[in-house]
Amino acid sequence: MKIAIIGATGEVGRMMIRNLVEFGVQIDELDLYASKRSAGTSLYYMDEALKVMELTAAAWDKAYDYVLFSAGSGVAKVQAPEALKACKLAIDNSSAFRKDEGIPLVVPEINGELLKGYRGIVANPNCSTIQMVLPLAVLDKLFGLRKVVVSTYQSVSGSGHKGLATLQAQREGCEDLGDYPAVIDLNLIPQIGAWLDDGYCAEEEKMHSETCKILNNDKIQVCATTVRVPVMYGHSISVYAEFEDKVDLKLAEQKLSQAEAINYSANTFTTPLDLGSSNESHVSRLRHGGDEYSLAFWNVAHNIRLGAATNAVKIMLKHAGYEA
Ligand SMILES: NC(=O)c1ccc[n+]([C@@H]2O[C@H](COP(=O)([O-])OP(=O)(O)OC[C@H]3O[C@@H](n4cnc5c(N)ncnc54)[C@H](OP(=O)(O)O)[C@@H]3O)[C@@H](O)[C@H]2O)c1
Repeated sequence: MKIAIIGATGEVGRMMIRNLVEFGVQIDELDLYASKRSAGTSLYYMDEALKVMELTAAAWDKAYDYVLFSAGSGVAKVQAPEALKACKLAIDNSSAFRKDEGIPLVVPEINGELLKGYRGIVANPNCSTIQMVLPLAVLDKLFGLRKVVVSTYQSVSGSGHKGLATLQAQREGCEDLGDYPAVIDLNLIPQIGAWLDDGYCAEEEKMHSETCKILNNDKIQVCATTVRVPVMYGHSISVYAEFEDKVDLKLAEQKLSQAEAINYSANTFTTPLDLGSSNESHVSRLRHGGDEYSLAFWNVAHNIRLGAATNAVKIMLKHAGYEA
């Protein structure tokens, strides 16, 4: 396969390169692009040092099978439509195209069938949405999902390299807030993204609209409170969900234990530090909510892997007919 990664030097881009190796993808050509800032630097694919190139229009004079974007919305809006001159599928990690009607928003294990015969731009969902919607899709099939109330605990790597650098600098005494609206070290911040008119912030709205789009049901109510916490990698979510039908707890446990990309633990819990290089959505502390029509659980996943790079690489592999 001929692949280009746009934003290769970032947190997500670097993980995409690792995923290609981990999944044993047969690569004929791998081109790495970033901004002018890191052009000329090298990144390793296995034991081969590849030079990072500045992304310019010349990139689309070449032919790729797949172009993976992880360079933010601004770059994606301009360059992803252009990339279609050079490839059949451009997979974008930003929020630029997620709400567009004709553009599939894909978690391969849930709605991967949308990729069949598709050419164009595919949107990769928001990190918190991917990890949460995997178990919710299983439970929705069983009992009919009606409403979800969640609080998230999102790591600083969710803000890219700059988020990690800001926490590290504050640990060492620096007072610079970086891009955050408050101090993050030994603190937490209940705002991720810009404020919206209805009192929610952008990350919360994404969890609502994206969950409905992926589960193909506009009636699902989602009330999210998204919180940035001083954790380096791994997002955690406390989920409360209500259903149309009575919940059979044993059946829910059984189906979650068998589901693809879900790691279900009955008698313990997972923390962000436990994740290592896991590509799964970890579900634990499953219990009834206030009544027999509801469930509560604890959900943890690696935001750079499952929440971004791995989902994007799996979209590519599913489209290409590989199994990751
Ligand atoms: N981090 C997460 O948990 C996460 C989860 C889901 C989705 N995402 C999305 O994935 C994307 C990347 O996130 P990240 O965390 O990897 O960010 P990051 O660590 O800040 O990396 C950003 C990347 O974009 C590149 N870039 C910036 N401006 C560019 C330009 N004009 N042309 C070409 N490349 C450019 C940077 O290159 P330089 O090295 O040259 O600056 C770098 O490679 C964002 O859209 C983000 O919203 C991130």
